Amino acid sequence: MTIAITGATGQLGQIVVEKLKVQIDAEPIVALARNPEKATELGVEVRVFDYNATETLAPALVGVDQLLLISSSEIGQRVAQHKAVIDAAKAAGVKHIAYTSFLRAAENPTPVTSEHVATEELLAASGLSTTLLRNGWYTENYAMGFAAALEHGALIGASGDGKISAATREDYAAAAAAVLMDPAKQGKTYELAGDDAFTLAEAAAELSRQAGKAIPYVNMTEADYAAALAQTGMPPEFAGFLAAMDTVTATGALFEDSKDLSALIGRETTPLSAVVTYLLSSSGT
Ligand SMILES: NC(=O)c1ccc[n+]([C@@H]2O[C@H](COP(=O)([O-])OP(=O)(O)OC[C@H]3O[C@@H](n4cnc5c(N)ncnc54)[C@H](OP(=O)(O)O)[C@@H]3O)[C@@H](O)[C@H]2O)c1
Repeated sequence: MTIAITGATGQLGQIVVEKLKVQIDAEPIVALARNPEKATELGVEVRVFDYNATETLAPALVGVDQLLLISSSEIGQRVAQHKAVIDAAKAAGVKHIAYTSFLRAAENPTPVTSEHVATEELLAASGLSTTLLRNGWYTENYAMGFAAALEHGALIGASGDGKISAATREDYAAAAAAVLMDPAKQGKTYELAGDDAFTLAEAAAELSRQAGKAIPYVNMTEADYAAALAQTGMPPEFAGFLAAMDTVTATGALFEDSKDLSALIGRETTPLSAVVTYLLSSSGT
């Protein structure tokens, strides 16, 4: 049973490879990478795989039984890229694809949802056995905001009282590995999110508690938050994207209480407090 992972050089993909190696030999694991030199440390077979060089795709999937398609990071290009991967998987005889989609993709009005919906539709039309790993927000997405909050004495955002069921990449990677390792878990749709939701005000309170100083949460309008992020040197388009994500977060877009993630990984998800502890220790604070 050969398992291949796209985006294996990315932050999530590297952890998935590590988790699979703990459970099976490295031999049947294939890291698919557009930059193979970035994958040498993974200790598994590496094959060249560039979504934009479609001729690389089907040959790299020869002999692969299961494919983890980690969604591309190239927003705006992703439907065409994922279609090329799905077509190649079909041509190469891949039997099962697990895809990292987005939380409640079918109805969630976030700026990232539409490309995931389109990919889910392509997968459904492919006729291949498919598992949808609908990942929620990464807790690590708040690392930069927390670091800025420690420096400036306030956590800023535009998500109001919106609850955020974030989980770590480590937890989402464990879920992906669990699905790849167990046919009984395949062919399903999982809404993956952290067990304990938090608002940004609650995150600020946890940051304050652990840092030993008051760091209030300051809620802003979407436009003011985007402007504040852009002032830090962030590209305006990305600042606008993050601010728009916060606005839909205020309406509950990142909240989920299915507990699918802890059920899949067989343990509680990593709490926010542990992520804050890690960030404070790694920043030397
Ligand atoms: N749930 C969330 O909060 C959240 C947040 C951000 C992103 N995401 C999504 O989740 C995915 C995985 O997250 P991550 O943290 O692992 O992202 P990441 O670290 O940016 O990794 C993205 C991976 O995609 C690969 N890739 C990009 N373009 C490619 C192409 N044309 N051909 C082949 N490979 C290509 C990258 O290759 P290189 O190593 O060569 O760059 C990298 O391995 C992201 O790509 C994105 O779709 C989710």
